[in-house]
Amino acid sequence: VRIVVNGHPREARAVQWEDDAVLAVDQRMLPDRVALARLETVDAVADAIRTMIVRGAPTIGATAAYGMALAAIAGEDLAASRAKLAASRPTARDLFAALAHMDLALAHGRDPLAAASGYADDVVARCVAIGEHGLDAIPDGARVLTHCHAGALAAVDVGTALAPIRLAHASGRHVFAWVDETRPRLQGRITAWELAGEGIPHALIADNAAGHFMARGEVDVVIVGADRIAANGDVANKIGTYTKAVLAQRHGIPFYVAAPRTTFDAATRTGADIPIEERDAGELGGGTARNPAFDVTPAGLVTGYVTEAGILRPEDLKRSTGLAAAWTREP
Ligand code: MRU
Repeated sequence: VRIVVNGHPREARAVQWEDDAVLAVDQRMLPDRVALARLETVDAVADAIRTMIVRGAPTIGATAAYGMALAAIAGEDLAASRAKLAASRPTARDLFAALAHMDLALAHGRDPLAAASGYADDVVARCVAIGEHGLDAIPDGARVLTHCHAGALAAVDVGTALAPIRLAHASGRHVFAWVDETRPRLQGRITAWELAGEGIPHALIADNAAGHFMARGEVDVVIVGADRIAANGDVANKIGTYTKAVLAQRHGIPFYVAAPRTTFDAATRTGADIPIEERDAGELGGGTARNPAFDVTPAGLVTGYVTEAGILRPEDLKRSTGLAAAWTREP
């Protein structure tokens, strides 16, 4: 994304390597304030994931890969470093896919930085392909509703759910995005900020307004990202996604989930087995608040999964052989 830091415009990925450290866009104050966080140790990287300086499953994965590179370069205990990163947030499958990638690379004596950078570059390449395949879900004139933030900053660059929207706009299609604000952490405002930066027509709406616009026939398709997709196709994504999927079904609106293979997890059988992070009650003002960060949308509500290998249908995931099954067995 194009950002301005202390008056200086520059291009930045959500996370990258610069001057011997991990440089991440600090997403906590966005869109009001843009800042970069320089992370020099694996502890700082684990903290950045836990405190949501970085967010979004693919970005969390790439950040963890760079964290392992930092640890390896500094000669730290790799098992302890890995454990710290693995404990930073529980739900996003990409975190564990990235750690498995680094395990393999380091076990084979690969250069740690090359392995981490390769992982991050792969994320971006997958997002580009997701954008191309997802174009099929966005006819000219489509009004697309998205929840949370699945744009460039959530996926190193380009984005998952936002990739087809960006490409549709760039290729001259008329596309309009409804952006759920996404309480309590307001990730939707980051989505709106990214769309504004690209001149893509959109409107930020309160989470509770989605049903209103669906009922009025003003939403043609829903596209969201994912944090983890179980073997049966159930999808964990930002809290509130399930509600949107139920509403979409009620109104006969296609509901797509855009995610790279690193989000698919064959080892997790169904959505009920996905660990759902419950965050601090303070994010909701404290007291007796309950604050689950994710919910599970059953596969039965999903029209298709927009992946780098094409749009998969829920039936494709149920088969015990085939592309999706092969993917999910691999790290
Ligand atoms: O808690 P976050 O901000 O890390 O969660 C981000 C998401 O959950 C998004 O739902 C996103 O759609 C999945 S990652 C592209």
